[in-house]
Amino acid sequence: MPGARPAGLLVALPALLALALVSWGPWRPPGSETPPGLLGELGRRRRDLSRLAAAVQAQACAAPPGRALGCADLEGATGVRPLASGITKRVSRALLPPAGEEVALKAVHGAGLDVSRCVQRYGHPAGCRRLAAYKLLKEMSLLRCLDHPGVVKLRGQCYDTSVNPEMKITTIMELGTPLEMIHLLQTPWEKRFKICLDLVELLQYLANSPLGSIALLDFQPRQFVMVDGVLKVTDLDDISTEELSCQTDKDCVLEFPTKNFSLKCAVHGKCEGINERRNLFNAYRYFFMYLLPHAAPLVLQPILKDILNATGDLRFGANETLRAFQKVLHLYKSGLYLQKKPSHLKEYIALKGFRSGTVEDYRCWPSYSHLGCMLSVHNAEEAADICCSHSQCQHFIITPQKTWTGRSLALFQSSSADLIPGNNTVVYVKRSTVSRVKPLTSSQKGYRDVREEIPTGTNFTPSKETTHFVSA
Ligand SMILES: Nc1ncnc2c1ncn2[C@@H]1O[C@H](COP(=O)(O)OP(=O)(O)OP(=O)(O)O)[C@@H](O)[C@H]1O
Ligand SMILES: *[C@@H]1O[C@H](CO)[C@@H](O)[C@H](O)[C@H]1NC(C)=O
Ligand SMILES: *[C@@H]1O[C@H](CO)[C@@H](O)[C@H](O)[C@H]1NC(C)=O
Ligand SMILES: *[C@@H]1O[C@H](CO)[C@@H](O)[C@H](O)[C@H]1NC(C)=O
Ligand SMILES: *[C@@H]1O[C@H](CO)[C@@H](O)[C@H](O)[C@H]1NC(C)=O
Repeated sequence: MPGARPAGLLVALPALLALALVSWGPWRPPGSETPPGLLGELGRRRRDLSRLAAAVQAQACAAPPGRALGCADLEGATGVRPLASGITKRVSRALLPPAGEEVALKAVHGAGLDVSRCVQRYGHPAGCRRLAAYKLLKEMSLLRCLDHPGVVKLRGQCYDTSVNPEMKITTIMELGTPLEMIHLLQTPWEKRFKICLDLVELLQYLANSPLGSIALLDFQPRQFVMVDGVLKVTDLDDISTEELSCQTDKDCVLEFPTKNFSLKCAVHGKCEGINERRNLFNAYRYFFMYLLPHAAPLVLQPILKDILNATGDLRFGANETLRAFQKVLHLYKSGLYLQKKPSHLKEYIALKGFRSGTVEDYRCWPSYSHLGCMLSVHNAEEAADICCSHSQCQHFIITPQKTWTGRSLALFQSSSADLIPGNNTVVYVKRSTVSRVKPLTSSQKGYRDVREEIPTGTNFTPSKETTHFVSA
């Protein structure tokens, strides 16, 4: 049979599954005896995959939008370079013609721990690769069926039968960048909160997926990548769509190294919600604990603490967790978290028609720019309070740049940063500085109080010469 298939065959995924299940079926390579242990493992993987294939078929999972990519597209690939590898798979980056679209290619990692451990045990490289290929097929089926922004997009696949007997399978997916927890710990809270929110949205989806409630069995930051600022799960070979079977509540213990949870055995003989809870506790211990509380806005801290407490004790399901996160997002976006206290804004004078000549200046944490101090603010009042709390800060500018929540990025600067004429931006200068500092040619009349409406095109708009402020 294998010889009958053309090389570089591009088949639709359901057909590929059927092909793999039939032709890989009780399988004995010619010439060598497959050890019974390996045959047993292959059998189990096959059955697991058939179950999933049946569920995928029953759901009639939609084909991904756009043309599915295949082997022909891979033949023209350029710039292929290895990106990362795990225990089972290796991932490369490639550019595909005609437009040079960047994609990630996943294949079995022949030298990886999974295959090499198996070979050590059974001395059967071909069988061991096949075992790993089942994982790749499982992941491919799931990627095809799970349609959510938090799941990496499948772009196609290639099943290269010319490489017998390995049945080389390549998954083509959107390219992401690995999560770096160390780096994330240094990023602004708003970005860290986004990652946690993305994760909760994904877990809510997985708990209610078309294939049932899905548990990510091997839940770790390295199973996720970022694509255009969105967190996505990429490693789906080790998941379960079945809830644990049980006879009594005693069978429903969810074990973690630091904590065990007892769940209920439902009437239908399954541990109710065990997959959902398992994901949530993993999200708590690998993500929330590190990313959520640290340097959060003061007023949000008690709410975040409650969320951490509820997820850490598994009191919340995915829906409740998502609602709690959405509440935090609402508070944050609407500025309701800002404390009601007298604003420092009246200590600043708004100068219209100036902008900063440079971003480079004093730094602060957690800046959105590595050259200077750029922070996300709700409004000028919040920016004024921040400026007052920085000893170097003499003026600040609300830039047109927005963060993902729609807040503005404000640039905080010291007196060493020059102000130059520029369009419609407003610079807020400390009054105490203004008394010591004046522009080269424009008069003190040029200053307007922050509360005043500043009409454009008044004589306040500086001319070319009024580019610098000098200390008097
Ligand atoms: N779409 C992608 N874009 C960029 N990098 C990716 C992508 N998918 C996976 N990677 C990187 O490749 C690594 C290995 O992929 P994957 O996790 O699927 O393999 P694995 O062998 O199952 O890994 P593990 O040992 O974690 O189970 C990931 O940790 C991730 O850093
Ligand atoms: C969890 O349960 C297991 C098995 O019952 C037990 O060995 C382990 O000590 C428990 N762990 C904790 C942290 O209680
Ligand atoms: C949640 O709060 C309760 C009461 O303060 C405390 O006993 C418990 O340890 C907390 N749980 C977590 C996970 O922080
Ligand atoms: C959670 O929300 C989903 C969809 O919003 C809904 O279908 C499901 O029944 C909810 N689950 C629980 C336990 O309330
Ligand atoms: C500001 O002015 C500069 C130069 O005059 C121009 O290139 C730029 O597009 C303007 N920016 C905005 C936001 O209007």
